[in-house]
Amino acid sequence: MPRFTLVTAQHSYDAVIERGLLSRAGEFVPDVAGVVFVVTTADVWELHGSVIERALAGRRFEVLFFPGGETRKRVSEVEALAEKMIEAGGDRTSVVVAFGGGIVNDMGGFLASAFMRGIPVVQIPTTLLAQVDASIGGKTGVNLTSGKNLFGAFHQPLAVLIDPDVLGSLSDREYRAGLYEVIKCGVIADRALFELLEARREAVFARDADVVERLIAAAVRIKAEVVSADEREGDLRRILNFGHTVGHALEAETAYARFLHGEAVAFGMKAATLLAARVGGLSEADAARILNVIGDYGPIPGVEGIDGERLVARLRSDKKTLKGKIHFVLPERIGAVRVLSGIPDADVSAAITQALA
Ligand SMILES: NC(=O)c1ccc[n+]([C@@H]2O[C@H](COP(=O)([O-])OP(=O)(O)OC[C@H]3O[C@@H](n4cnc5c(N)ncnc54)[C@H](O)[C@@H]3O)[C@@H](O)[C@H]2O)c1
Ligand SMILES: [Zn+2]
Repeated sequence: MPRFTLVTAQHSYDAVIERGLLSRAGEFVPDVAGVVFVVTTADVWELHGSVIERALAGRRFEVLFFPGGETRKRVSEVEALAEKMIEAGGDRTSVVVAFGGGIVNDMGGFLASAFMRGIPVVQIPTTLLAQVDASIGGKTGVNLTSGKNLFGAFHQPLAVLIDPDVLGSLSDREYRAGLYEVIKCGVIADRALFELLEARREAVFARDADVVERLIAAAVRIKAEVVSADEREGDLRRILNFGHTVGHALEAETAYARFLHGEAVAFGMKAATLLAARVGGLSEADAARILNVIGDYGPIPGVEGIDGERLVARLRSDKKTLKGKIHFVLPERIGAVRVLSGIPDADVSAAITQALA
């Protein structure tokens, strides 16, 4: 069973990857005096809730439903959940179990960070994206009208329980969107992972259990190492943003309606790869391989009607724009990236135009 330890200022904890782990969830939820609050969405509960119910049998637990969706990932929903917790007897001895996709992990984690000034949370991610990314690292939060994820807290979980078996019920589109974050990990830090993605595409699409477990383990290892070395997103943690600078701009430009996050990241990785080939010294051969893998795991929704110049303008208002400088995470070769700023607008525009073509 792969298990990776995250070492953070708050505490150290493990991300555990194991098929069937859901049924052992109770072992990871501390034996508290108070109520265990399972925050989830109706769809996930319908599909997999009975396993959690059995795992928590004999404990005092309450299931709190959140409607789901990016537009409901708001502080008002967190407040409503907190009120429900109080009504159900929640207090400082309670624990939150965030059981769902990345939205539930972000909301449940944030709820736990603020309820009674902070109670523990156990993360049980159920989408591939949440398993390899959102549930790990302690970033929690909600959206503001002004932008995504602008209101939140660092709140490290007690444990992250990753059961690859729950992915069986995920739609193909959500599954593939998560795979782009895995491809990202391969490009930024793990050539062997990248080569596995190149070589085993059929098995990955067929959700072959061994291959899926290897992909998750490789991606979680990277996230765990990066977060342990740089919890608060200094220079190192920024490498995880490969594809995200342009990806976020694309999501915002299309009002979060056309692309799933991972799909927007796929487009962003394409643009960053083209930019790296143009200004960052990435070889033609490696650029072609990265672009091929991104294409092979597609398709992503079409980009017709999207104006490259508007995307460039949006890059400037990204929250990761520091002191007016846009930072790009650019591959140097497969398995290594560096962060560059001060790239001329003309090159950025050209790369985006090329990615849109
Ligand atoms: N905190 C972080 O570090 C971090 C990192 C990356 C992303 N995120 C956040 O994660 C969110 C996106 O997460 P997501 O892609 O998981 O989206 P999501 O949470 O909306 O889940 C996608 C859909 O799949 C459903 N679902 C979940 N598990 C399922 C399963 N096993 N079977 C069938 N359906 C299932 C969900 O109910 C939902 O409808 C964004 O809000 C993003 O900001 C956070
Ligand atoms: Zn992402």
